[in-house]
Amino acid sequence: MRIGGIELSGRLFLAPLAGITTLPVREFFFEHGAALTHTEMISCAGLIRDNEKTFDMLSVSEREGPLVVQLFANDSDVLVSGGEVALERCGKFSAFGINMACPMPKITKNGSGSAILRKPSLAKDMTRKLKSLGLPVWVKIRRLENDDETLRFAEGLIASGADNVCIHGRTASQRYEGIADRSIIAKLAREFPRMISASGDVRTVNDINDYLSMGCEGVMIARGAFSNPFMFEEFEGRFRTRDEKIGELVNFSRRADEISGGHKALVLMKRFAGSILKFEQGSAELRRLAMVSESLDEIINILSRRNL
Ligand SMILES: Cc1cc2nc3c(=O)[nH]c(=O)nc-3n(C[C@H](O)[C@H](O)[C@H](O)COP(=O)(O)O)c2cc1C
Repeated sequence: MRIGGIELSGRLFLAPLAGITTLPVREFFFEHGAALTHTEMISCAGLIRDNEKTFDMLSVSEREGPLVVQLFANDSDVLVSGGEVALERCGKFSAFGINMACPMPKITKNGSGSAILRKPSLAKDMTRKLKSLGLPVWVKIRRLENDDETLRFAEGLIASGADNVCIHGRTASQRYEGIADRSIIAKLAREFPRMISASGDVRTVNDINDYLSMGCEGVMIARGAFSNPFMFEEFEGRFRTRDEKIGELVNFSRRADEISGGHKALVLMKRFAGSILKFEQGSAELRRLAMVSESLDEIINILSRRNL
């Protein structure tokens, strides 16, 4: 199926997560059922300044599937220059993403992320200019203070050439707290058929079905990917045993160690640990032990225990 200008095998996507959706994580989720993944948001200012750490975020591998490279900037020209660097450095991606959703002060104080929600003309200009680089453009926004404003904002993006608009149903001032509003997402999906993806509180297969039943083109799994890394497969009716899940996570930890180094691999394994330990006897203590473990071998050993 074709969604947002990209040929995809399904409607479930791994959302962009800063500091998390690095190469080994994207590979893992692509191999476990995500039809598309995102990089973490990448600073165009950093790309233009030849910042090596920012360049690292553009690393992709042959094992990855369809990928959206998500950029952030506070100005259209900076965005386009950053996009050009991304194309030169990393040819293998399917679409550009623009972050108009991040509410964190270190991003918004410079006028990027959700600060752009207050500047519809800039949002349209950014979309139009980035589109001129020739790839589909996916824009991620948040709910604005009222529904009309949100509808008009999305309409402006689509009229400017956005191929997909992902809306997170929390306002920027809610950050990541409270419940994501689904009614505005349903309204957008009705108003702009085939253009809208959903984000917010996707924790179970029922949440995915709820968004799809509203007519959303795609659903982004964010924090839920860590509380259940096998949700993509379970949505397709494929269920793994506990031992199989541990085996998959052990393979992931080896690959993450190889690509990102032991420390980062351990941090990621700690994020995954709760998903395995939550139903175990003595799970609170096992989780505590997992959180303080100091090596991959130690955390794998804890995950493999059935009780204390
Ligand atoms: C740690 C963290 C990092 C995030 N980084 C990004 C990002 O780089 N770009 C972006 O558009 N959204 C980012 N988000 C937002 C998520 O993609 C998603 O929209 C949000 O978490 C709501 O979904 P959820 O309630 O299912 O977690 C981030 C969220 C979290 C929790």
